[in-house]
Amino acid sequence: IYRSTSSTTLPSFLLVGPSGAGKTALLTLFERGQHVETRTSQVPISVEVSLPVSTNAASLKYRSVNDPSNQVHKKFLLADTPGHGKLRHYAFDGVIKPQNLKGIIFMVDAADISMGNSGNGNEALRQAAEYLHDILLLLQKRSTSSKTSKAPKELPILIAANKLDLFTALPAPLVRTALESEISNVRSSKTKGLLDSGIGMNDLDIGEEKEWLGDGGDGKFEFSQMDEVNVAVSVAGGNVLGADGQDVKQWWDWIASNL
Ligand code: GTP
Ligand code: MG
Repeated sequence: IYRSTSSTTLPSFLLVGPSGAGKTALLTLFERGQHVETRTSQVPISVEVSLPVSTNAASLKYRSVNDPSNQVHKKFLLADTPGHGKLRHYAFDGVIKPQNLKGIIFMVDAADISMGNSGNGNEALRQAAEYLHDILLLLQKRSTSSKTSKAPKELPILIAANKLDLFTALPAPLVRTALESEISNVRSSKTKGLLDSGIGMNDLDIGEEKEWLGDGGDGKFEFSQMDEVNVAVSVAGGNVLGADGQDVKQWWDWIASNL
C-alpha cells in the first residue's frame, strides 16, 4: 500500500470523510498536479507529496514570521482512506496509530450537504456529522484515556468543504454551522440510545463520560469545545475541479502551516 519506503519518517496527513467527497481526487491532484478520474476507494493509499513552491511564495505575504526557506520543497505523506461506511476502520486505524501524524483532513461534499435543506431531513449531512463525530470522539479519547493528566499532543483537523464550484454548494461558514448543529443532534441521540439500552443515568456520568463529545453541558456542540483536548478545528472551502479550474489554496496553506 505504501508506495514509498521512506514513508514512516515523513510527516503525514490523513484524509478522511464520507464517500464521494473528493478525497482521492484531491490526492491525485496533489500528487500529479492535475485531475484524474477516480473510482470509489476500497483500500487506503499513501502517496508522497511535495508542498508547491508557489504556496510558500504566496504565504510569504502574510506569514512573514516564518522563514520561507524552511518550507521550500517540503515533503509529506498524504494517506487517503475509503469513505464507505463499512471501510472506515482504515480511517480510525490511521487516527489511533498515528505515524508522525501532523493533521487530519475531513473532506465533505458541500453540495451534497446542502441538499434537502428545503425538504424533509438531510441524509448526507447526518451521515457526515456522524462520521465526524466519531473521529472527534476518538481524538478526545486520546486525552480521557491517557494515564497522565497531561493534555495530548496537539492534532489539528481541517474540515475541507469541497465542490464549491457547484452553485448548490453551501459556503464554508455554513458548512461549519450545519455540521456543528447536526453533531449536537448525533451527540444527544447517541446518549439517548445508551440510556434506552439500560445504562443508568448515574453510570453515564455526563461530563466525564467517555462517550460524550465536547463539554458536559447539554447545549449546542461547537468545534471550539475541542480546544480543551488540543484539537484545533478549522473549516476552509475549495474545489478539486470545476469549470474555472481548481481552488485548493486554503488547504495547501493549512497543510503548510501544520507541516
Ligand atoms: P470514496 O473513495 O468513495 O471514499 O470517495 P472519495 O472521497 O475518494 O471521492 P472521489 O475523489 O472519488 O470523488 C468523487 C467524485 O466527485 C468524482 O467523480 C470526482 O470527479 C468528483 N469531484 C471531486 N472533487 C470535485 C469538485 O471539487 N467539484 C466537482 N464538481 N466534483 C468533484
Ligand atoms: Mg476515494
